[in-house]
Amino acid sequence: MESVRQTFEEKGQGQVFAHFDSLSEDEQKVLAAEAAEIDLEELDQLVSGLVKGSGSKNEDIADSLAPAEFIPLPDAENGNPALWEEALKKGEAALRAGRVAAFTVAGGQGTRLGYDGPKGTFGVTPVLQKSLFQVFAEKILASSKIYGKPIPWYILTSVINHDETVAFFEENDYFGLPSEKVHFFSQGLMPAVDGEGKILLAEKGRIALSPDGHGGALRALVRSGSIREMEADGIDIISYFQVDNPLVRCIDPAFIGFHLLNHSELSSKMVPKAYPEEKVGVFCEKDDAALVVEYSDLPERLAQEKDDAGNLRFRAGSIAIHVFDRNFIERLGSGNDESARLPFHLANKKVAYVDSDGNTINPDEPNAFKFEMFVFDALPFAKNPVIIETAREDDFSPVKNAEGVDSPQTSRDDQLRQYARWAKAAGIELDTDDTGVPRVNFEVSPLFGDNAERFAASWEALSHKPALADGLVLV
Ligand code: UD1
Repeated sequence: MESVRQTFEEKGQGQVFAHFDSLSEDEQKVLAAEAAEIDLEELDQLVSGLVKGSGSKNEDIADSLAPAEFIPLPDAENGNPALWEEALKKGEAALRAGRVAAFTVAGGQGTRLGYDGPKGTFGVTPVLQKSLFQVFAEKILASSKIYGKPIPWYILTSVINHDETVAFFEENDYFGLPSEKVHFFSQGLMPAVDGEGKILLAEKGRIALSPDGHGGALRALVRSGSIREMEADGIDIISYFQVDNPLVRCIDPAFIGFHLLNHSELSSKMVPKAYPEEKVGVFCEKDDAALVVEYSDLPERLAQEKDDAGNLRFRAGSIAIHVFDRNFIERLGSGNDESARLPFHLANKKVAYVDSDGNTINPDEPNAFKFEMFVFDALPFAKNPVIIETAREDDFSPVKNAEGVDSPQTSRDDQLRQYARWAKAAGIELDTDDTGVPRVNFEVSPLFGDNAERFAASWEALSHKPALADGLVLV
């Protein structure tokens, strides 16, 4: 313990131990253990480079950015249906061979939604209010049945929500998935610092720590042994999605197929941005490499720019759905390749802290800096990255805010629109409003149908076809 304290003092971070002597022996151990986990060399570099560095580089990058290329949908003007068919077959074969795992990042704090609990436990479906985790579990189970191989599911948590997340799955019998195929692991933590780069204390004996961003998923996959486990199980394709999006196709054979056809290390889905200010990252190219420029970093004039056809020039919105090659994750996550490291981004936030007199200060203004890695920063390091277009209405309707855009209400309406499209395609008569939302509130389990064709087949097979009425659940 003394040696950790001494190192912190030598590095100008002695304030972390300011109240050490007033702590009980157990509390001292906790603080020393937290401190020992911090890489002070790395932190020094981040403080000098980011906190005290020259700040925003937005306009500097504007001239070097070009819009990224993507594979359009099969029915788009320049789409290639035969290629999509080939990709679908390739992806289905990989699924039948048991090469695919699902991976969800669920370590975030979910502050914008204002929900007290792991975000994955939030209820989203129109009738049963099934949780996000249950929706994903049932989609994964449906795919496992279709392809005849159990699909393992890896879930990234953080200390904030790990135990609650695991307990939720246990209480709900893993929603029908074999429990040994669901793997939870926690991401790393980074300390918050003040404007001088001094590490803040959350309590006299606790450091102000927060998750290291979803980019931390890559090193957490390696450190937790998950990558080794996947290798032993013959898994080399990892289907990545965020915890906030109930419409996501957790397992998408055509997407997996494009990834394989192109020998890609990291593949991504895009949707055309709905409007210039939409809060999604944008796929761009810089120095011949693909990258995602986060919405907050995209220079305003590029966000607004139109092409000759009147479309947004930088329109390839990232919906945070990817397919990773396992070896690529290992290369980046192990840190062995010096030339392929995810950078940290800085977030200026309000962080309550204990001052040198032992008083807790609750700031009104952002007073601290947090460091986060973003998983999409892996893109420039990937060989043969592929970006495919997807239909927003079948893949993306996240729950991010309590009200307004990307809220429980908009996501629920989008789920209902999807059920209505499937029902109509199966020949069922259904009254909808002008935006396609059905007049009755019903729900379709992914196990009944997870796309239009499978919905139609299950409907066809019903001996008694129920009326689509309020409260109906098709299972
Ligand atoms: C994110 C993307 C944005 C993309 C949009 C699509 C970032 C920085 N931006 O925006 O490019 O267009 O989604 O919906 O990600 N998470 C962790 N650990 C962390 C932090 C986050 O697991 O330390 C997880 C969250 O649980 C969530 C996801 O990452 O599943 C997204 O995090 P969030 O901070 O909400 O990103 P957005 O700003 O919504």
